[in-house]
Amino acid sequence: MSGSLFSPYRLGGLELPNRIVMAPMTRARSGEDEVPSDLAPAYYAQRAGAGLIVTEAIQIGPGAKGYSRTPGIHTPAQTAAWSAVTDAVHRRGGRIVAQLWHTGRVSHPMFHGGDRPPAPSAILPADTAIWAVGPDGAGGMVPCVEPREMDRAEIAATVARFAAAAANAVAAGFDGVELHAANGYLIEQFLRDGSNRRTDAYGGSVDNRLRFLTEVVEAVTAAIGAERTGVRLSPLITLKGMSDSDPYGLFTRVVERLQALGVARLHFAEDDWDNGTPLPAEWRKAWRERFSGTIIVAGRYTVDRATALLEAGLVDLVAFGRPFIANPDLPERLRHGLPLAEFRADSLFGGGAAGYTDYPAAGSAA
Ligand SMILES: Cc1cc2nc3c(=O)[nH]c(=O)nc-3n(C[C@H](O)[C@H](O)[C@H](O)COP(=O)(O)O)c2cc1C
Repeated sequence: MSGSLFSPYRLGGLELPNRIVMAPMTRARSGEDEVPSDLAPAYYAQRAGAGLIVTEAIQIGPGAKGYSRTPGIHTPAQTAAWSAVTDAVHRRGGRIVAQLWHTGRVSHPMFHGGDRPPAPSAILPADTAIWAVGPDGAGGMVPCVEPREMDRAEIAATVARFAAAAANAVAAGFDGVELHAANGYLIEQFLRDGSNRRTDAYGGSVDNRLRFLTEVVEAVTAAIGAERTGVRLSPLITLKGMSDSDPYGLFTRVVERLQALGVARLHFAEDDWDNGTPLPAEWRKAWRERFSGTIIVAGRYTVDRATALLEAGLVDLVAFGRPFIANPDLPERLRHGLPLAEFRADSLFGGGAAGYTDYPAAGSAA
């Protein structure tokens, strides 16, 4: 049935066999040099039955990091390791885009040579901690510190790094990129008036707060093409100190801007872990009317909730995050109504194959 989760979809030059996206998920198994683990090709290839895979968030440059053992795509060794991932996914018949991030103030001096992390404004996000591996090798949460305000030169350099990382992603064989403008990281810190108190051209009015995202998108689309560029947004999250005096007004302008810039995909994260709420129906309609590209949603979706939005024509693709961790063949399980396995929470971040590449497909479980 057209509009069903299991119907094909044409995304630019890509033919997706279903409407199921694997949501981006940090799994913290990279080396200290930010080179993805040599288990990453198998992990992603096991999940190649998704219509589209969005990778875990990937650092765009030095100083973009906020958590231990997360990967980058700004050195030749990192880019080469990602080539092995895209190759493995493509050989299994899948499609994969790279999620690119800079974590901004959600970071720690340990990733900045002892300096404070950069942010639009020097505002400490309340109750925010990062996951870090200590000297004893054990992972745990570490509170963030007050960041320092980025100057204009650093903003320009960061924009250029997003474009260079996008170019590296395409060189590594990715089918496109997703810019991480959600979940409280650097781009969203610029967008919201709770985290951006700048008085220069990058703060104040909505247009000014949109300037950083706009410049990043312009630079990335110039480097790799708008048809390969998507953006992830999280209009209703409050985690990591995210707040805004008018989220609907702000994100409506964001959607209008991204339409004007011709980006191919908008991905709304309605829920990050257990923070966030589904978008109100009127917001979905208003943004659908303003954006002609592909709309993806994520956040505790089920087949029924996904199908209702697809059939209403409000979204094109639906992303699943946590269910993909323990169910590498999630699309097949959803299609046939097979039981879903539960993931082991203690192996989400860090470690090796256990809880990463050792979850079997349903057919091979016995
Ligand atoms: C272990 C884990 C890691 C995540 N890492 C990222 C990430 O790197 N980038 C991102 O945009 N969202 C990240 N998310 C959020 C997911 O993409 C998704 O929006 C969220 O899990 C809600 O979808 P679900 O209810 O289907 O899991 C992460 C979620 C989990 C559970």
